[in-house]
Amino acid sequence: MLDLNDYGIKMWDSEKIASFRRTLLAWYDQEKRDLPWRRTKNPYHIWVSEIMLQQTQVVTVIPYYERFLDWFPTIDQLAQASEEKLLKAWEGLGYYSRVRNMQKAAQQIIADFAGKFPSSYDDVASLKGIGPYTAGAICSIAFDLPEPAVDGNVMRVIARLFEVNYDIGEPKNRKIFQAIMEELIDPDRPGDFNQALMDLGSDIESAKNPRPEESPIRFFSAAYLHGTMDKYPIKEPKKKPRPVQIQAFVIRNEKGEFLLEKNTADRLLAGFWSFPIMETDFIGQQLDLFDEGTPQIKETVSQKALFKQDYLLDVTWSEQSFEKVSHTFSHQKWTIQMTEGFIKKAALPNSHELCWVAAADFDNYPMAAPQKKMLAQYLKTRKEAKL
Ligand code: ADE
Repeated sequence: MLDLNDYGIKMWDSEKIASFRRTLLAWYDQEKRDLPWRRTKNPYHIWVSEIMLQQTQVVTVIPYYERFLDWFPTIDQLAQASEEKLLKAWEGLGYYSRVRNMQKAAQQIIADFAGKFPSSYDDVASLKGIGPYTAGAICSIAFDLPEPAVDGNVMRVIARLFEVNYDIGEPKNRKIFQAIMEELIDPDRPGDFNQALMDLGSDIESAKNPRPEESPIRFFSAAYLHGTMDKYPIKEPKKKPRPVQIQAFVIRNEKGEFLLEKNTADRLLAGFWSFPIMETDFIGQQLDLFDEGTPQIKETVSQKALFKQDYLLDVTWSEQSFEKVSHTFSHQKWTIQMTEGFIKKAALPNSHELCWVAAADFDNYPMAAPQKKMLAQYLKTRKEAKL
């Protein structure tokens, strides 16, 4: 067991802890948000909500949550879903490994737990994609187990309560917040206790616009009482996403259909459909194939030549220029330049998973945010160019 004294944290006595629980839960009973996953104890439903809420705001999650359970009402149906439908259900939420892991976990539940969602912390935590936070949230909410659910919001609230001088962004420090929560959590209402802290952390005690005067637990908060709210939590700024230049090829056939490619398993956004793209850096590395012309000419020539070489397609390129499109992932910032081309009847090569799709049918193909932005930019430019 970790000793909080070693980290400069003095735990409250049992009377203060009891008073804190009463104060927090009385506030929650008054103020709690009425959310669809708060009207159920079904662990499958709570699991879905917790995974969606990991990187996404509550308001965005609600319609996705409802549609997901409509499409996959049982763990069995999730386990058996096609990749296309799975990605479609998650389209727009990002961080798609979340839903792939959910499907693997559903298959694990079928194989190892006879299709019934497990109800002990260790079994829940053994499922793919379920870490300590999610296991704690599910076990406390669905099974009333006194397990803390420590995420960034909860760490922020705790850091202010105890003036914790350890960076909340450092994974190795999580255990300090976990140990504090193990002391504080109300064994009679653990799910409500955890969710009360989540609600506080995402609103009154948010990172950007906290309203400390409104906090029901302000008189328990060392940072509030000492006037050090702006110092806590300690958090080093994140590294900026790496800039990546992308060349996209928007190719159409005589019917006006678009050439789409399914991303292979080793690429970012695996399984999604996209206009064919290449990293410009990769194109740059191939520049020595061409030793004539200015750098710009060389680059355009080489991009187009590389496309032809890689896709074995004879494209007539257009002169149309497009405004660049940008999209930021957690670790990469893409700046996408589109180039347009046309192809007369041609067989598609087997080396890539390609197909022709009319714009009206795009809804049947899982597409991620950068792809949607490209399409919107393309159609807008084309409309303005009156072509
Ligand atoms: N964020 C993560 N889990 C949540 C929950 N159960 N309620 C509200 N916000 C959350």
